[in-house]
Amino acid sequence: MKVIAGNPYLKKDQGKIYFDELEYSILEKDFSTPYYVFLENRIKDNINIFNSVFSSHFERYEGFYSFKANYLHEICRIIKEGNFGAEIISLPELELALKLNFSPNKIIVGGIYLTDQLILKCLDNNIKEIIAYSLLDIKRINDLAKNYNKTQKICLRINSGKYDARLGVEINESTIEKLHLILSECKYIELTTILSHFSTQMNSIDLLKKNCISLLTSLKKLQKKLHIDIKNINFGGGFPEAVVFKKERLENFALSVKKLLQEYDFSHLNVYFEPGRFLVGDAGILMSKIINITDNRWIFLNIGNHIVPKFARCNLRFYNLNNLNESYNTKTSIAGIIPSDQDVLAKNYYFTPTLKIGDRVLISNVGAYCLTFSNRFPYRLPAILLVKSKEYKTIFNPTKHQDFSL
Ligand SMILES: Cc1ncc(COP(=O)(O)O)c(C=O)c1O
Repeated sequence: MKVIAGNPYLKKDQGKIYFDELEYSILEKDFSTPYYVFLENRIKDNINIFNSVFSSHFERYEGFYSFKANYLHEICRIIKEGNFGAEIISLPELELALKLNFSPNKIIVGGIYLTDQLILKCLDNNIKEIIAYSLLDIKRINDLAKNYNKTQKICLRINSGKYDARLGVEINESTIEKLHLILSECKYIELTTILSHFSTQMNSIDLLKKNCISLLTSLKKLQKKLHIDIKNINFGGGFPEAVVFKKERLENFALSVKKLLQEYDFSHLNVYFEPGRFLVGDAGILMSKIINITDNRWIFLNIGNHIVPKFARCNLRFYNLNNLNESYNTKTSIAGIIPSDQDVLAKNYYFTPTLKIGDRVLISNVGAYCLTFSNRFPYRLPAILLVKSKEYKTIFNPTKHQDFSL
């Protein structure tokens, strides 16, 4: 048995290809490319890996899945069944989380665009905490909470200090002074958590640690001046796909965080993470086919950046299912079907020497952000299937459903 793309749920055995335990040829009969396949059991494994690593190192750890990575109803249902919490940025996402019966105590909501409607929905539903990206938003939450006569728990997003970072509040003397004033005036909020999210696809423990150090340093400054009782520290997300960032590296990172918390004297705090890509990135694959080949080894697939956008920053891997036994040793460039020279999926990618029009190309690691960032190019959207063991179901059918947006 040969594992494809380092993913134990993509296998080749005795000339047959399997998605989990489902033989791929069954899907080929029923669906024409392009179509997406999500692997339910892979998501469950990724949740278990993430939870087991962090709960073994932190007594008080909680995970919140970043819905924006993939907000398909079925994907979020699997996350809910895995007993993971939800990190939400918008009203449609919050409505979905509530519909899926995520406990309000496992939902954290906030972002750059905190509308009154979103804040009111949080207050109505006793959402665990609202995340403010600006001091002004703290005041707005307070004013709305006042009408409910309740105290809303708040998380403050701190500017990560990364070059050019604009999101979150920079912690300096002036902002600490302003925060002090706001906290003394706002009686209907309680600042319980601080958050910093550095970036996505941080394939380096040093980078992940940088975010932690920046957050812990900010917290030290805040505590020195404000004497506030911060109970929770949220290190955000940013992990690569689980096939890329393996369990041992996650363990090493968890150990580094533990050490940092001890150094900064914050071991008593609850530790939160908000992974998106790690949980779902490698659980998504896209089936496509070669539609054209040029003399200088450019191949065109029947998908493109409208459905696998560069913005999603996935670790894309391409496999020729018609020639899986060949070595991947021949430089090949891969283009999509947007009629623009910019629609490049990979340049000089080592691919099979033998190619022909019609070959099926499996693209792995497309589970996170591809659908979120996908755009309306006038091609039919791909079908989306969910595979679990030997079974599959269609979760989006472009001939019946208009769209998969929320
Ligand atoms: C605040 C915050 N938390 C978590 C995430 C999830 O990031 P990732 O999918 O890289 O883990 C994001 C992604 O943009 C984010 O902005």
